[in-house]
Amino acid sequence: MNVIVARNYEEMSQTASRMIEEQITKKPDTVLGLATGGTPLGTYKELIKGYKEDRADFRHIRTINLDEYVGLAPEHPQSYRYFMNHHLFQFINIDLEHTHIPFGKTEELEQECKRYENVIDRIGPPDLQLLGIGENGHIGFNEPGTSFDSETHIVHLTESTREANARFFESMEYVPTKAITMGIRSILKSRKIVLLASGERKAEAILRLIQGELDEQFPASSLKSHDDITLLVDEDAYKKVQRKG
Ligand code: F6R
Repeated sequence: MNVIVARNYEEMSQTASRMIEEQITKKPDTVLGLATGGTPLGTYKELIKGYKEDRADFRHIRTINLDEYVGLAPEHPQSYRYFMNHHLFQFINIDLEHTHIPFGKTEELEQECKRYENVIDRIGPPDLQLLGIGENGHIGFNEPGTSFDSETHIVHLTESTREANARFFESMEYVPTKAITMGIRSILKSRKIVLLASGERKAEAILRLIQGELDEQFPASSLKSHDDITLLVDEDAYKKVQRKG
């Protein structure tokens, strides 16, 4: 596991964006695995800047996102499709047809999971998968207890995850209770994985990820079985590791 410690959020975001730009320059038809949430926002801003400054050309890339809320239509402002369109896709030269996100507004949830896993196998796996991490160690929406053998599936969100995400909704009652997520096995299919973490709130999870064992109660620990994983964290997220080490 490579570990890169950036001074702060800005430096972490710039480093992540440079890694993605290098990947796209090396392989213009790169498949990128993308995440939503607060952590990658800075990376997306830097990528948009990179596009404007001619450092990155997204014309031939394809993207596969990790997850989507069940019940939210793509045009819902809190859906992950809306998030990606408004924080990245609309500002770069990507063909929206090349961007893939699970479709949450369907009754046929099992079928949608199968369809999405097929997308990963047909278009992917991602050459580079960007991940965030939950305070409880979740990756994608794979909560503690998820099998390391899981492929794309439906999850019931834990109260702690719903509370953490409530900041984006009008009130707690609007936070969906279910989501579609790539499974742990789907994520591990990626050729290279870069996990981002910023801020003290993530320090305990980063400590456990670096020093703990493989444990299905801590989904991010599954990454330890992958042979190309980079942790790109800022000093605040790395605090507890440094204190012990
Ligand atoms: C989002 C996702 C989640 C987040 C995680 C951290 O697509 O898959 O696992 O990466 O919840 O979220 P933030 O970055 O908001 O702290």
